[in-house]
Amino acid sequence: MTTKPYLFIFISALLFFSCKEKQPVKSIVTTASNAHLKSTLNNVLNTGVAQYKYMADQLRKGEFPKTYNSEKNKLETSGSDWWCSGFYAGSLLLLDKGIGAPTLKQEAQKSMAHLKKEQFNSSTHDLGFMMYCSFGNALAMQENKEYEQILLNSAKSLSTRYNDKVKAIRSWDNAPWNKGNEGDLIAIIDNMMNLELLFWATRHTNDSTYYNIAVNHANTTMNNHFRDDYSSYHVVIYDEKTGAVQSQITNQGAADESSWSRGQAWGLYGYTVMYRETGDLKYLRFAENIADYILNHPNLPSDKIPYWDFNAPQIPNALRDSSAAAIIASALLELSTFDEVGPKDKYLHNAELILQQLSTPEYIANNGENGGFLLKHGVGNMPNKTEIDVPLTYGDYYLIEAILRYLEVNT
Ligand code: GLY
Repeated sequence: MTTKPYLFIFISALLFFSCKEKQPVKSIVTTASNAHLKSTLNNVLNTGVAQYKYMADQLRKGEFPKTYNSEKNKLETSGSDWWCSGFYAGSLLLLDKGIGAPTLKQEAQKSMAHLKKEQFNSSTHDLGFMMYCSFGNALAMQENKEYEQILLNSAKSLSTRYNDKVKAIRSWDNAPWNKGNEGDLIAIIDNMMNLELLFWATRHTNDSTYYNIAVNHANTTMNNHFRDDYSSYHVVIYDEKTGAVQSQITNQGAADESSWSRGQAWGLYGYTVMYRETGDLKYLRFAENIADYILNHPNLPSDKIPYWDFNAPQIPNALRDSSAAAIIASALLELSTFDEVGPKDKYLHNAELILQQLSTPEYIANNGENGGFLLKHGVGNMPNKTEIDVPLTYGDYYLIEAILRYLEVNT
């Protein structure tokens, strides 16, 4: 009988201390893991510097790295007109910005000297990727009149592809498969990524033409690329004379009605930029809805690295696409910085999970391996059977960008 009060006091004390302990323990864990993640990410940047020095030594003049073929132990490269040609300089510049690597900055300048002729290329919509990720980053770090002119000419070249009937920028001149006809205007979701260049051009010139083209393209894409659940089609084909939608299909996804993961990532990133550049809340809500589609998807693995397509038939044995993960992380980090955004913590937390996972040896190459790329396990074009489970130059670029964004918001 006499033991009961003691037991009661003992249990109450236990509960009291365990409840009292919960808050500090939780915050210690969070702080400790933030500090741990920051240090891991700094290590990734250091690995990046070593890797890109190694890669620079292998490249010949005027070559732009695309990927690495491990069977042939060969770096695969392109000319300056490939859509990925600006990512190499972009990654070098971001590494220099992140931890200071002057030799990489010089290498970026050499690469941009070979890239600059693309400012007059009006046969591609990819000028945003090519020129803004390279010259745009260079200009953000240091004033340079020549780079300003190159970016302006690039924005002009891109604008020539705008069709005011459709109110969209033409992505491809020809469909790479047999589903297009003369008089088609083909727009792909990736094109949302080229609009940032146009916003820069309006800021630089005060000429609203570029701004209006970007806004019109984004609105048309909102109307015709997205399904009710905020997933997106890869390709929409319009009648260039009437603006009518002819078909909604895929080129790189598993099926016309599937959700190609990198396409979802481009959409998320694109509408995040739209909000940043216009302040129009409709774009923020749209980006939030895309983020929710991605983060709540039953086929998104718990480590948050998406399969190459959210509806890939081989799930759960389908390949992951590390490039889509890197783009999503970078976009979520920017989204989480907006005052008006709803679930900031959710976006930040998911970006952290992605960065944590991409920083493990499963995804990050050892020095001197992977052709000098940082990230492993990207999927370029599964239906075309090209660039499957390989490093991709844009995977590295968006990973490095996401790391810098993370370190900036977690100083
Ligand atoms: N823009 C092509 C891709 O995302 O693969």
